[in-house]
Amino acid sequence: MAILVTGAAGFIGFHTARALLARGERVIGVDRLDDYYDTRLKMARLALLAGPAFRFIQADVADRAAMLALASDDITHVVHLAAQAGVRFSMIDPYAYVSSNVMGQVVMLELARALPGLQHFVYASSSSVYGLNTELPFSETDRVDRPSSLYAATKRAGELISHAYTHLYALPQTGLRFFTVYGPWGRPDMAYYSFAAAIMAGEPIALYDGGRPKRDFTYIDDIVAGVLGAMDRPPAAGQGPRLLNIGNHHSETVNHLVALLEASLGRRAVIRDVARPAADVAETWADIDAISALTGFAPSTALDVGIPRFAAWFLEYHGS
Ligand SMILES: NC(=O)c1ccc[n+]([C@@H]2O[C@H](COP(=O)([O-])OP(=O)(O)OC[C@H]3O[C@@H](n4cnc5c(N)ncnc54)[C@H](O)[C@@H]3O)[C@@H](O)[C@H]2O)c1
Repeated sequence: MAILVTGAAGFIGFHTARALLARGERVIGVDRLDDYYDTRLKMARLALLAGPAFRFIQADVADRAAMLALASDDITHVVHLAAQAGVRFSMIDPYAYVSSNVMGQVVMLELARALPGLQHFVYASSSSVYGLNTELPFSETDRVDRPSSLYAATKRAGELISHAYTHLYALPQTGLRFFTVYGPWGRPDMAYYSFAAAIMAGEPIALYDGGRPKRDFTYIDDIVAGVLGAMDRPPAAGQGPRLLNIGNHHSETVNHLVALLEASLGRRAVIRDVARPAADVAETWADIDAISALTGFAPSTALDVGIPRFAAWFLEYHGS
């Protein structure tokens, strides 16, 4: 028996695979190792996963033949995290989002249908599906039909495609709407990481709207606890597709993030104030009642605890 984790060389996939291995599971990891950000970081994550219980396959989740070839494996759970991530890059390479996030979702669901022992298909969605909604906190019962980026639109499309597959084929599924995940081994394209890199290099950081936008920053260990908790509890037969927010339930300003980075890195940021791009939303804040009721999910890492941990890892990894 094995658990298939896609995006296993990525930030959340790596941490999820590592937690699964630590509790004794056999893990098959899939990742195409694209160069959206430094592939050395992806390789370094994979090196930490290597061992007899981990098998890695370099492949594209939108590649039908490569994915359907996995149907002969005794996979019981799929944790589908591979995606073209990033809100702003979806204005630069829109096609990458359709291929990975829409076609990729269909191919992974077709694989799920072909797995005889499948118990649960868990996949990553995003807080970005709440788009231009302004009522806070964001709840799974809110309407989500006003995306502000193509990234968000493809993540919502993934949810709708999953809905159809559960309706048609009774596939047990859970979609997880992650809220701004951060931590060690994180993503260089995200603000907390790119700000740290700029601060250490003495370069200016571009702060949108004076740093007033707010995010529900969620520490990676809390996210992994939520992913595993949800994975272990598939919806009962006949229960419709499930969507769950995973956030920290605390919305904090980007200014506060910068102050914590400065304190943890021991250097002042050089700030350049710029207008917020139309693709970026003003605020996110997760209602987490549903996942808490289902799994006992209780995020325990405040930003002022998680950022120093990230900074310590950053300084060690980058050797400064
Ligand atoms: N990190 C966050 O704050 C956040 C927030 C909301 C949603 N998400 C979602 O969580 C998931 C994981 O995100 P992450 O932060 O770990 O991003 P990541 O970019 O670090 O990881 C994604 C991995 O998927 C791989 N990948 C991309 N397209 C692929 C394809 N077509 N086939 C195979 N592999 C492919 C990449 O090489 C990468 O290693 C994604 O679905 C993302 O949309 C993340």
